[in-house]
Amino acid sequence: MINFAHRGASGDYPENTLLAFREAIKVGATGFELDVHKTKDNKIVVIHDEDIERTFLGKGLIKDLTLEELQKFKCRKVLFRNLTNCYIPTLEEVLEIVKSNNLILNIELKTDEIHYIDIEKDVIDLVKKYEVENKIIISSFNPESIKICKDIDSEIKTGFLYCKPIVNVIEKAKKLKANAIHPSFELVSKKLIQKAHENNLEVNIFTVNSPRDMRRVINMKADGIFTDYPGLLNQIISEE
Ligand code: G3P
Ligand code: CA
Repeated sequence: MINFAHRGASGDYPENTLLAFREAIKVGATGFELDVHKTKDNKIVVIHDEDIERTFLGKGLIKDLTLEELQKFKCRKVLFRNLTNCYIPTLEEVLEIVKSNNLILNIELKTDEIHYIDIEKDVIDLVKKYEVENKIIISSFNPESIKICKDIDSEIKTGFLYCKPIVNVIEKAKKLKANAIHPSFELVSKKLIQKAHENNLEVNIFTVNSPRDMRRVINMKADGIFTDYPGLLNQIISEE
């Protein structure tokens, strides 16, 4: 069971920052989940929204700002504002951490709102540059992005994300040649997980934050859980 720290240990630290990722390791995460976008000067950065305003003290779209401009914005959370590791990191900065730790990294391509030209290729090139292909799963809500990744390299692991019921989701994931389905917690059942496993698909579930739900999903034999509280999940896994 992979304990994916969702946007790092984002329940306690500013999401998708180096601080949140480093703290996740300390409390027992065995994987990271993060979101990527592409800057005006074609750098891959780690942030959830297309716009920086919710999490940083600034305004604007990632696609309209350079990396240098983006990394100057301070974190919106007051307690973390003056820390040096709470800026918008590049994917490369997180890959450095993944390379030197025993971790799986789920890179979510945020291609459902804005289509960033060649983001799939750019991400795969970085994964290869850091030689961490065997530690990576690339996911997206956009099936086209999954398809593009597999066309670039059929060996790259992919996960098909969804948060609304999909008829014949297993068939759809297989058609995309995905390696896993990533459903939201409400859409999961033991039967679905069994069927996915019979079809050689892993099942990683988001976003599970309460002890009760964590126990439920562990008992359903999910392969991975995305949680904002990796320390709590670590404790629950050791109890179950
Ligand atoms: O990858 C699982 C989960 O992160 C997808 O939803 O909105 O948190 O990126 P969101
Ligand atoms: Ca995500």
